[in-house]
Amino acid sequence: MSDEKTVLKGPDLTQGIELSRIADGTMLLGHARGEPVLLARRGDELFAIGAICTHYGAPLETGLLVGDTVRCPWHHACFSLRTGEALRAPALPPVSCWRVSEVRDAARQFTPAEQPVRAIYASEKLERVASHVQPARAGMPASVLIVGGGAAGNAAAETLRREGYGGRITMLSADDALPCDRPNLSKGYLAGTASEASNLLRSTNFYKDHGIDVRLGKRVAAIDVRSGYVELADGERLSYGALLLATGADPVRLDVPGGDLPHVHYLRTLADSRALISKVLTARRAVVIGASFIGLEVAASLRARNVEVQVIAPEKVPMEKILGPELGNFIRRLHESHGVSFHLGTTAVSIDERSVSLKDGARLEADLVLVGIGVRPAISLAEKAGLAIDRGVTVNEYLETSAPGVYAAGDIARWPDRLTEERIRIEHFVVAERQGQTAARNILGRRERFDAVPFFWTEQYDLGVAYVGHAERWDQVEIDGQLETRDCTLTYPHAGKKLAVAVIHRDLEGLRAEVDFERSMVGRCSS
Ligand SMILES: Cc1cc2nc3c(=O)[nH]c(=O)nc-3n(C[C@H](O)[C@H](O)[C@H](O)COP(=O)(O)OP(=O)(O)OC[C@H]3O[C@@H](n4cnc5c(N)ncnc54)[C@H](O)[C@@H]3O)c2cc1C
Ligand code: FES
Repeated sequence: MSDEKTVLKGPDLTQGIELSRIADGTMLLGHARGEPVLLARRGDELFAIGAICTHYGAPLETGLLVGDTVRCPWHHACFSLRTGEALRAPALPPVSCWRVSEVRDAARQFTPAEQPVRAIYASEKLERVASHVQPARAGMPASVLIVGGGAAGNAAAETLRREGYGGRITMLSADDALPCDRPNLSKGYLAGTASEASNLLRSTNFYKDHGIDVRLGKRVAAIDVRSGYVELADGERLSYGALLLATGADPVRLDVPGGDLPHVHYLRTLADSRALISKVLTARRAVVIGASFIGLEVAASLRARNVEVQVIAPEKVPMEKILGPELGNFIRRLHESHGVSFHLGTTAVSIDERSVSLKDGARLEADLVLVGIGVRPAISLAEKAGLAIDRGVTVNEYLETSAPGVYAAGDIARWPDRLTEERIRIEHFVVAERQGQTAARNILGRRERFDAVPFFWTEQYDLGVAYVGHAERWDQVEIDGQLETRDCTLTYPHAGKKLAVAVIHRDLEGLRAEVDFERSMVGRCSS
């Protein structure tokens, strides 16, 4: 994430443009009253909304029109063309929405008299009507308690209010910080290109204004699902009408001598990222243990701060299990070209103040160690409460756990996925937020199945990879285009079925793959 200024491009839509300039099913970038505005045409209907995605600022005109929505090219948020509402995470705030007016005979203004033309104007920004919050109605819980102040918990709280829920909403978080943009913690924020302000998903005032009672530093110690209350570590008890569990995941700890020394860091929370940044200010040599997303994103961010980096991992090819050997090797070469060295096929056996010793006998100097060897879903609460567990909290397609009125979302939830026709659990930011949104609507009685196609992205140096779908195994990665020129689509098929697609510099292909996956699910039953 970077904090950049917007430049106005295209026609001034307050002055009007000829209708013929925008073909059916296309978008046109213009501006109105100093703001970039996207004009979109669907048959006879014309829409005008803010043109910049409210997540990280992507240009929406390079996204994809799907029905009366536009999808963002970078991380696949979805905005309503009718209202500007962010219908799907990761964007949370809406974009602006403009009234489109048409003048049918604008000949004098646009052509030399012979041909009357239709001119389209967007000059009036529509006032956003706040959701009408009503007291909880019959069939709705009197109060909602959310355990977890992360991606899923935050999205659920916001969605409850957006849907007009007027009952009490309490969000309990073991963390001392407000819900934060975790992906930013290993990328822009750690690299020094994104500001401190970019970390919080919402401000303190947002929760205040929306009547969401966020209680930080509050760890839930037990849940009584029969009587409907939770007990906090400090002994306080809180009752609930409906409960959402969104406790996320905890980093796996490295169990070697010296693993608890002060210069050995993990990265999950905002406090972890801040601690890493303050260490980086004096560190010269880092060893990163683990060559998956967190480890490699941290490696790239540390290089941006001129710290020497060596990466240790047991696998032969970084990220091979998730992205395949071709892309894994490409990413390895990318890191090497930035001065990172790899020690693969080995593990760390001990750490001291100055170095990390490896199983193969090597000793690597390090005044900073970052451990990124995976996470474990934080399911002990759910387990103790007697909820059904299967390598995660078992939920159905509506994200309901085995206890009535208790839902689960995010890194802890294992759900029946219609795309793979398997029960899966995924550790992606966008999946967590979308599950929070769906769980909130189901808490209000919607019975909406969770069918979003999994999506994640990674950024390392100037390389961005977007991945749609979910493939735990595949036959052979098919590559269209070239990795070296950073213009390609990788497809992961299994038994004749396409399971996932990864794209580099092909945003539209990534979006089209998402739509294709969605269409392939229609009519399919979940297990
Ligand atoms: C550094 C980093 C970078 C990442 N980058 C990406 C990326 O680029 N793309 C991507 O798709 N995903 C990324 N992820 C993964 C993504 O952030 C997670 O999948 C997502 O945050 C999961 O959301 P969640 O709500 O399930 O859990 P979390 O966001 O982890 O939130 C869990 C919350 O529950 C609280 N909690 C836990 N136990 C208790 C308890 N007993 N009582 C009260 N509160 C409790 C925690 O304090 C926390 O507030 C990244 C993760 C990290 C750490
Ligand atoms: S910039 Fe649009 S979804 Fe991220």
